[in-house]
Amino acid sequence: MGETKHTPRVFSGIQPSGNLTLGNYLGAVKRFVEMQNSGIETIYCMVDLHAITVWQDPETLRHNTRELAAAYIACGLDPAKSILFNQSQVSAHAELGWVFSCVARLGWMNRMTQFKDKAGKNAEKTSLGLYAYPSLMAADILAYHATHVPVGEDQKQHVELTRDIANKFNHDFKVDFFPEPEPIIDGAATRVMSLRDGTKKMSKSDPSDLSRINMTDDTDTIAKKIRKAKTDPEPLPDNLDDLAGRPEARNLINIYAALDGKTPEQVMACVAGQQFGQFKPALADLAVAHLAPITEEMTRLMADVTEIDRVLGKGADRAAAIAEPILAQTYDIVGMVRSR
Ligand code: AMP
Ligand code: TRP
Repeated sequence: MGETKHTPRVFSGIQPSGNLTLGNYLGAVKRFVEMQNSGIETIYCMVDLHAITVWQDPETLRHNTRELAAAYIACGLDPAKSILFNQSQVSAHAELGWVFSCVARLGWMNRMTQFKDKAGKNAEKTSLGLYAYPSLMAADILAYHATHVPVGEDQKQHVELTRDIANKFNHDFKVDFFPEPEPIIDGAATRVMSLRDGTKKMSKSDPSDLSRINMTDDTDTIAKKIRKAKTDPEPLPDNLDDLAGRPEARNLINIYAALDGKTPEQVMACVAGQQFGQFKPALADLAVAHLAPITEEMTRLMADVTEIDRVLGKGADRAAAIAEPILAQTYDIVGMVRSR
């Protein structure tokens, strides 16, 4: 990790919009756990205010928020080591988000590729929140003066925007207050692709359930989805260069590597010459070996939502204790009168 003058602090978040996928696990949660265990201060959020930028059924949102908390804990996040909470319970996020909406420029927001992808041809009908969402994301990170943000590849642009917002705020108000956080994007699976189309990201919202592995899928479903994953008739080569133009094969190799804690090159050396009929069952076994204990633990935790809510409440108190003074100082810098 690079040097900054701010104390290292990690912040990241995931939307509780259901269907937590293998992409979320490999691109985000698995790495959240590694950072937690490296001894840095870590804060991980269920970003419910982000989720409502598109329609969420209220009961389902509550369920998904608790299920995401259960997934965090089942994957190895420890509420005694990391601060775990849901975003809406710490009002500093929304308040700082407003200040940042007044710092960010329309031109910057117009360049956000995720908005363009999500809005598609229907931009007129999307919520204002979906458009403004990167300034809320900047507030999530900067309300804690976080310096490092583990995310998948698709969030890089939003973390770069966060740096631009921090920089413009510091410059406009002639302060050195907000850090410019670094995105931490590494490992073999920073962009896990759809099992049906190796050129599309594996996503919670893909209409085809066969395109993704969900953290709640049972063993048979995981094995079936991998068996049905789109591939090509060629055997696996012994080096990565020969996978150029074979995005589906490349994706399965990356997934295998990330699950097994190896580099894709190491995996290639072992599987060279194999047909998919041989490789896929090995991958399915590996995926099940990793995911089954997590799914089981999630089910156990979800049986007691009162306990989940208690953990999240404690996390929110700890988060607020950091974010509120930073928000108060921000208001002072901006020129708000402290009347009470
Ligand atoms: P989201 O599900 O959009 O809230 O994403 C939560 C986190 O998971 C972010 O850090 C994303 O970059 C990461 N992520 C989501 N989908 C993938 C994927 N297919 N591959 C790698 N990382 C992903
Ligand atoms: N925008 C992220 C996503 O959709 C989720 C997110 C919200 C986030 N706030 C964040 C990620 C702050 C990292 C830091 O995946």
